[in-house]
Parts: sequence; structure tokens; C-alpha cells
Amino acid sequence: MASRGGFSNRLGFIAAAAGSAVGLGNIWKFPYEVGENGGAAFLVIYLACAFLICLPIMLAETAIGRNTRLNPFGAFNKLGNRKWGLVGLLGVLSGIMILSFYNVVAGWAFGYFIQIGFGGLLSEGVNYGEYFGGFVSDITDNLLYSIGFMVLTALIVAGGVQKGIERWTKILMPLLVVMILGLISYGLTLDGAMDGLSFYLVPDFSEITANTFYTALAQAFFSLSLGMGALITYGSYVGKNDSIVGAAALITIADISIAFLAGLMIFPLVFSQPSIEANAGPGLVFVALPGIFETMGSIGPFIGASFFLLLCFAALTSTVSLLEVPVAFVTDQFKTNRKKTVYFVATFIFFVGLPTMLSQGASDFFTNFTYYGGESKDFFTLIENVFSDLALPLGGFFIAIFAGWSWKNKGFQKELYFGNATLEGTFLEKMILFMVRFVSPFVVGAIFIISVLQIFFNISLF
Ligand code: PHE
Repeated sequence: MASRGGFSNRLGFIAAAAGSAVGLGNIWKFPYEVGENGGAAFLVIYLACAFLICLPIMLAETAIGRNTRLNPFGAFNKLGNRKWGLVGLLGVLSGIMILSFYNVVAGWAFGYFIQIGFGGLLSEGVNYGEYFGGFVSDITDNLLYSIGFMVLTALIVAGGVQKGIERWTKILMPLLVVMILGLISYGLTLDGAMDGLSFYLVPDFSEITANTFYTALAQAFFSLSLGMGALITYGSYVGKNDSIVGAAALITIADISIAFLAGLMIFPLVFSQPSIEANAGPGLVFVALPGIFETMGSIGPFIGASFFLLLCFAALTSTVSLLEVPVAFVTDQFKTNRKKTVYFVATFIFFVGLPTMLSQGASDFFTNFTYYGGESKDFFTLIENVFSDLALPLGGFFIAIFAGWSWKNKGFQKELYFGNATLEGTFLEKMILFMVRFVSPFVVGAIFIISVLQIFFNISLF
């Protein structure tokens, strides 16, 4: 244990796992998905997915990690057999591919921090929509920003689990929350704020389609860092005296609350600016926020730059967990030197991300890379669809099946008892087992089929 490192205590694990969960998924992705999928109706389905389907899977992941103290591939190989090892490998691969695009978007946030703080971006007459389009297609700047981000990530991961990850999260996450709360209060004073609130909070269930379900489920997996073994890897550093159940509930609540607050922040701001549509897509946060910072006058650049800086830190605690998965895989399986492995894997993933960076207008080839579901798709969308929208739920499906049905000698239950001796025989225990065995696999399996039909064949079942 000592040689692999470990969290200093239960709070250390919660902070690190919450740091992994809270990131661009909450503040960049969640709001634009709500905006594209009809507002409050999406929110309702999203909450249901997070608590009913994902939370049980989070318990399973963490239990597998703590029991084996290995990376996802090693863990499944040890408890199951070679076939199960494939699920772990899928996780490692998803981690690599998700980090490859995540690092690009983190680079955008980093770039906005620089441009707002030092580049004079917030000035009258700037069309922030056009600016964003130009920004993401400018390859030189993006290269610099994303190299910078990957280097930071690698330095933290190389510093070791305990020192690196825990410390940052405990200080900077609360600051981010304060910032969001401040922007919510400001937003509520603006004209149009109430329209924004009702879009976000009053459900119109006629907006629900098959698309809503799969987007909400995929988003819940992504936001909670589930389905690829990030929490197997982090779970491998949790002590035997700590309760996994309480920790998982806290992590889920923290993550979902921050996404919820991000929505409360963004929609009043969006509806107060007539030129911005809620369904603006991936640029939503980057387009809606600068216009608001501009209205703040001379403190605007300071507030704006601080916001994007905090967003960068939130992203950093997530990129760290994404990088940790392939690094733990390589060091565990091939007994390599941890530091060298970190730098090697980070460099490799940076290069894997280049086509994604080029796919936002810089290169025609990657921008119109492929065609499916009735539309031409850029490279970024392809990678996101395959490795995040599909691979995470698929991984989660197998993790639930494994913990619920295949883990021998009641391994899953016994692992939950460590640090939580009173759980045995309770209603809560029966609930958890029922969810992990039946509800999560069934719902995820059904939605997975719906998503494949929808994404690749444009067939909508309802
Ligand atoms: N949960 C992170 C976010 O919401 C992204 C992530 C996904 C991190 C998968 C690790 C594993 O930003």
C-alpha cells in the first residue's frame, strides 16, 4: 500500500473523487445539454439517472478498487477472468480518449482566462459568438493552451496521489462554488432572468424524446466520472476502515449540486441576452458569460478571469483523475517507473488529442470527418459519442453485472461492510443489491441500445 500511495483519510478520498467528478462536465457540458434538450425535463431525467442508476454503480466501482488495490484492468483480471479484463481495458482506453478531448476544452477555458484577464477580450461591440468560433479554430493559440494544461496535469499526477490531488481540491472547489453563487445572485437581478429560471426549472414533458434519455444518462456517467474505472483507480487508494456507501452518496450529491448550480447560473444569463439561444451547443458557456462580465464594468475582467481560472482548476482535478487511470494501468501491469510513465502517457494523449483540436474549423478534413445519424460530424463529436456517450454506460453496465452477479463469495457485499459493519442485513443493503443487480444493468442496457440506434442510425424509438 505504501508504495502505491493512499489517501490520508476518508475525507481525502471524498475530496479527490469529488474533484474528479466536478469539472467541465458540470459547468461546460451540463448547461448546454440542458439547453439543447428542452430544459427542465432533461434536468429531471438527469437527476433520476444520477441517483437511481449511477450511484449504485459508483459503489460497485469503488468496492472493486478498494478490494483489489489495482487499476481497472488488473482489478477485473484478479477478481474475474481474462474476459472481464477486457472491461477494464475498455475503461483504460476510454480514459485515454476522454482525456484527449477534455484537455482541448480545458485549453479553451485556460485561453479565456488569459484573454479576459490579459487580452482585453471584454470590450464593447465584441460579438462573443463569432469570437468563440474564431478562437476554437485558431490552432496556434489552442496548441499552447492545451500543452500548458497537459503539462500541469502531468506535474500533479507525477507528484503522487496524496500530495498532488487532495490538496488542490480542498481549497479550490469551495472557491468555485462561492463564485457560482455570486454569479447566480447577479444573474437573478437581470431582465429575462425569470424566463431563464422557468426554462430550467419548470418541466415540459412533451420535450422528452429518446435523445433526452440517452443524453441524460451519458451525461450522468460523464459527470460522475463513472464507467471507465476512474473510481476503481481512486477506490484502490481508500482505507479499509472507511465507509464506501457514505462516501459515494456525498460525492454524488456534491457533483450533482454543482451541476445544478451551474444551470441556475447560466440560464438567467442566457435569457437576459437576446442574441444568445439556450440551444447554442458546446459554445454556450463561452458565449453567454463574457457578455455578462462585460456588463459588470471595470470589475468585469477581474471577475471573468477569476471565473475561468477556477474552472481551469476544476478541470485540472478531473484531468488528473483521467490521467491516473492509464498511468496506474501501465505502472501496475508493467512495473514501470511512475514518473517516467506519467510523462510518457501524457505526451501520448496530447498527440491523440490533436485531431480533436483541428476539428473545430482549423482543418476541413477533421471538421467534416465522418457522416452518421443523418449529419456530417467532426472528429471531436465522433470521439465524444464513442468513448464518452457509449463507452461509459457500457462500462457501467458491465461493472454492475460484475459486482451484482459475478463477484464470487458475496465479494461486493463484504467489501461494503468494511468501515460500515452495521450495514449487514439492513434494508439499505438489500436496496443497494437490488439496484446493482437489476435496476442499473437493465436501464443502462436498454438506454444503450436506444443510443446506438439514435446516434449511428438516426432511428428514434419514441
Ligand atoms: N467528471 C468529469 C467532469 O465532469 C469528467 C471525467 C469523466 C473525469 C470521466 C474522469 C472520468 O468534468
